[in-house]
Amino acid sequence: MRHLMSPLDFSVEELEQLLDLAQDIEANREKYAHACEGKKLATLFYEPSTRTRLSHEAAMLNLGGSVLGFSSADSSSASKGESVSDTIRTVSCYADICAMRHPKEGAPMVACQHSSIPVINAGDGGHQHPTQTLTDLLTIRSLKGRLNNMTIGLCGDLKFGRTVHSLINALVRYEGIRFVLISPEELRLPEYIRHDVLDKNQVPYEEVVRLEDAMPSLDILYMTRVQKERFFNEEDYVRMKDFYILDKEKMKLAPEDMYVLHPLPRVNEISVEVDSDPRAAYFRQVQYGVYVRMALILTLLDIHVD
Ligand code: NCD
Repeated sequence: MRHLMSPLDFSVEELEQLLDLAQDIEANREKYAHACEGKKLATLFYEPSTRTRLSHEAAMLNLGGSVLGFSSADSSSASKGESVSDTIRTVSCYADICAMRHPKEGAPMVACQHSSIPVINAGDGGHQHPTQTLTDLLTIRSLKGRLNNMTIGLCGDLKFGRTVHSLINALVRYEGIRFVLISPEELRLPEYIRHDVLDKNQVPYEEVVRLEDAMPSLDILYMTRVQKERFFNEEDYVRMKDFYILDKEKMKLAPEDMYVLHPLPRVNEISVEVDSDPRAAYFRQVQYGVYVRMALILTLLDIHVD
């Protein structure tokens, strides 16, 4: 049985296959409409979510399956003190596959050790968010036609942003990738990722504070929200929250073929005036998130459609 804890759980070849399947799903929705008939997906969300939970559910419904679950720890027996391992043993009796989001790093990993159904990590604390990474990879590949030879700007909260951590882990395996890490000093990418992931894989990167300085050299600009819920005090958050605001003026500095991605939700870091720019790809990214999660569910359930 296979789980998805980290984007590295798939080899580069397996990832290619998964993205190919997602693209086939996009082109032939009807063909997959009954692939998961009789199957159930459970969504176990101990942390708020809009896209990740609903896109997993939409993906299963699009495949003809059904869904059940909870959307906050308060409405589950976690509030009575039940452990993740007991919850997953229980859910294994109800569903065929599950997606779990948890504020504690490693909680989905604990779940998969006690589970008799595939577990998808739908975000664990500031650690990993592999299904967002699959979404990001499909978006980049669809828009740029490749995943190699690219300069990727990652901007905002690189310290706590799990989407950034997962995306870096996945992209260092492709040729010719270069990162520009754009953040205030306080929100720099953690040292363990700079050293253990970037340096170890000899991936070139530079760290800059000003977004304007980075813009002209980018193929992709990946904006992120300052992760309010992971700050230790409100004051620091308030000081950091509007550090970057991407607006029309700054977009003038970007190449014509640079795309802007954002895992969403956005707060103030992308002005709504950018939404009408053809390079703003964050809502297309949301749509790709459904196709890639359909492909993921089929892959983990080992269901093949000809
Ligand atoms: C992200 C997350 O939850 O990590 N959202 C998402 O799943 N698309 C990003 C965020 O919350 O800032």
